Amino acid sequence: MRSYIAAAAFAALAQAQDLDWDAVLQLTPVPDVTIPVVYATVPTTTATATTVSYTSDAAAAAVSSALSANPDDSFPLDTALAKRATSTSCQVQPTGVSLGPQATDDTVSAFLAYPSFSATAVAAASTAVPNGYVNTFSNMQASNNAYGYMGYTLLTDYNTQTCADKCTKINGCQAFNIYYERDPTVNPDSDSCSNPASTTNIKCVFWSGPVTSDNANNAGQWRNKFQVVIAGSNGYVNKSIATPVGYNAGVYLGNSAINAPLDCTGDDSYLQSAIVTTGPFDANLCAVACNEQASYARQHPPTDGSFNKMCYFYNTYILYKNGQALGQYCAMYDQTWSSSYAKNTGYYYGSDHYTIGFSYAFSNSTSGGQPRYPCNVASAKSAIVSASLQPYCSSLLGFNPASATQTVTVTPTVQATTLTTLNYQQQKRQAASTPAALQKYAASVITSACGLAATSVSVITTTATAAATTVYVATSTVSQK
Ligand SMILES: *[C@@H]1O[C@H](CO)[C@@H](O)[C@H](O)[C@H]1NC(C)=O
Ligand SMILES: *[C@@H]1O[C@H](CO)[C@@H](O)[C@H](O)[C@H]1NC(C)=O
Repeated sequence: MRSYIAAAAFAALAQAQDLDWDAVLQLTPVPDVTIPVVYATVPTTTATATTVSYTSDAAAAAVSSALSANPDDSFPLDTALAKRATSTSCQVQPTGVSLGPQATDDTVSAFLAYPSFSATAVAAASTAVPNGYVNTFSNMQASNNAYGYMGYTLLTDYNTQTCADKCTKINGCQAFNIYYERDPTVNPDSDSCSNPASTTNIKCVFWSGPVTSDNANNAGQWRNKFQVVIAGSNGYVNKSIATPVGYNAGVYLGNSAINAPLDCTGDDSYLQSAIVTTGPFDANLCAVACNEQASYARQHPPTDGSFNKMCYFYNTYILYKNGQALGQYCAMYDQTWSSSYAKNTGYYYGSDHYTIGFSYAFSNSTSGGQPRYPCNVASAKSAIVSASLQPYCSSLLGFNPASATQTVTVTPTVQATTLTTLNYQQQKRQAASTPAALQKYAASVITSACGLAATSVSVITTTATAAATTVYVATSTVSQK
């Protein structure tokens, strides 16, 4: 229950969708991935590529079991990536493409200034954007540290389509980064080969999270006395994201998260959050969390008769701390909010800046969820209260001002719309007396709102008579107002 309680406590203090700081402050940034071309031993094949395999079903099962063990908990889940091999001395490395300045002037500055690299990258960004992708940056001298590393491959030419085709075939790949890299011809792991001749590799690196100019921050590295540098780096992100079963297609919210106000009935629609800290970005993991919350709530309705809040909508995004990815965040709600509520671009916590990226919202395709009762009833109810129309309601509902207690039977509030079909035992509408403040509402809305305004005293749940009946009890204090 830890993080649910924490989230609820924060909700009362701050905005409803404040982060689950209890969980977030325990997270460490996802480690950067270094993708060297290193042969530790003599390679048996010339293949220089790795892919990280990802099975959404397995990750979904992990989320599901974590949540069913403790449905209110957030969870850092660990799905460790492949470990890198260690290297041995001066092992000959794969020869890259036979282009670049290494033949004539094998220096870092010549590599970075080589005109053909930038010309190719710039041309690829304007004329060779693969179908289904958007180009996010071009011709940078850095590669990406994005979220959810999915492997890489070496290419024989700077071909964005080849790179895209490989990404499409990798389960979970949503983005790729293509660039030239100055690499050593032998592994420079000994004094005898500390700064060998270079070769140029064309790398195509796969990610499940977006590659952007913001996370293109890996400008290379020193390997002993050899300097690895990068040129002509371009980024591409898949324009569409897989839609989880049972949900409408995701609504892209960019670098903003939903910041929902209280709903029209005054309820906080935010339920709880979940965080996945490693592995690919996968919107389905949050769908699983949302479904688990809903099924848990369905099986454990509140015993005090209050509204049973179930997840119908979630917002998932990559949460960054000072620019480094912390994990995939899922914020769950009991009703759908449009993109116009995506106004939250981050938080400061002390001097740390938490920001949002790759934000998507998903809504249950059967029902988007709804407030406790319809918004027009809520509006009529506040008109009644602000114009002090409780006496009108009392007579409308046939309450006797002198009596201590009146009972009104209504259909259940589980699905809020049923409130409009309230069936009052003693309904007795008085002719030609609808107050001006209520004239814009339908009679059924006024009746429902009067029922609510008159029920501020207590609400008693179902008795044995009918499984689907809620009894509102109003005392005469209401009608004497
Ligand atoms: C983009 O991602 C969607 C959802 O995963 C996938 O169906 C589609 O094939 C991808 N598009 C391309 C061009 O790879
Ligand atoms: C969507 O809502 C319906 C109606 O409440 C529910 O039966 C269904 O399980 C929900 N779907 C998902 C994927 O949660």
